Amino acid sequence: MTTPLFQIDDLHVAVAEDGAPGPEILKGVDLVVQPGEIHALMGPNGSGKSTLANTLLANPEYLVTQGALRFKGEDITLWETDVRAKAGMFLAFQYPQEIAGVPVRSFLQQALAARKGIDDLSALETRLAVMDWMNRLQMDPSFADRYLNEGFSGGEKKRNEILQMAILEPDLAILDETDSGLDIDALRVVASGVQEVRKDRPEMGVVLITHYQRILDHLTPDRVHILIDGRIVDSGGPELAERLEKDGFESWR
Ligand SMILES: Nc1ncnc2c1ncn2[C@@H]1O[C@H](COP(=O)(O)OP(=O)(O)OP(=O)(O)O)[C@@H](O)[C@H]1O
Ligand SMILES: [Mg+2]
Repeated sequence: MTTPLFQIDDLHVAVAEDGAPGPEILKGVDLVVQPGEIHALMGPNGSGKSTLANTLLANPEYLVTQGALRFKGEDITLWETDVRAKAGMFLAFQYPQEIAGVPVRSFLQQALAARKGIDDLSALETRLAVMDWMNRLQMDPSFADRYLNEGFSGGEKKRNEILQMAILEPDLAILDETDSGLDIDALRVVASGVQEVRKDRPEMGVVLITHYQRILDHLTPDRVHILIDGRIVDSGGPELAERLEKDGFESWR
């Protein structure tokens, strides 16, 4: 068998309390993502979705107490956020909500330079890439001149996230739709944006962390996982999401 793109191996995570592990939140999570696969991870309130998202981001508030994360065969458990990003992991929620006075275009240029390890990336090159992607994602060109996240609507934030993903050309995209007060349009933006990016990068893996089944009406996952109380209690095809829609999480408790 080939090396998986991404692997979560018996992951146990605790909240850090003064640097020491507090209560355990994730209690042995396993997940294998092959190139090109879309995985949806779903769970009720308090099941550990945000904890997992934060752990994948390498947020120091969360400690891995057992198990490992592997990306393209390498053990990345102890890697910091920027190293993970540079290696080709895209974490949609890694950037601050609002960066005062930084236009979208400059931000993208910095992020791209960091990802590619090039100091003086041509401004023209970035500009062309940004224009091309904004067109494909049906974004207004003036958007690139706005300040990052300042006054962005929910849908604009999502478009901006997908734009970042497209420009950064990751091998694995981790999208956290958990805290979405997202309306159906914003969900469609994410779904169609992911599909557009996958046209160019069919090998890109996607992990979509979500509370809601409805985004899966627009983005068909290869695998669906149900997370309850820090454990994946069931995995299957898209039919799992349909069962969830019908019966709720209750039928797994
Ligand atoms: N920093 C923290 N300090 C204390 N407890 C925490 C912390 N982070 C998470 N927890 C606890 O871990 C459990 C899982 O929380 P988490 O936020 O991961 O759930 P979730 O699946 O994202 O829920 P929701 O759907 O409500 O966003 C909860 O009981 C929560 O209170
Ligand atoms: Mg959450």
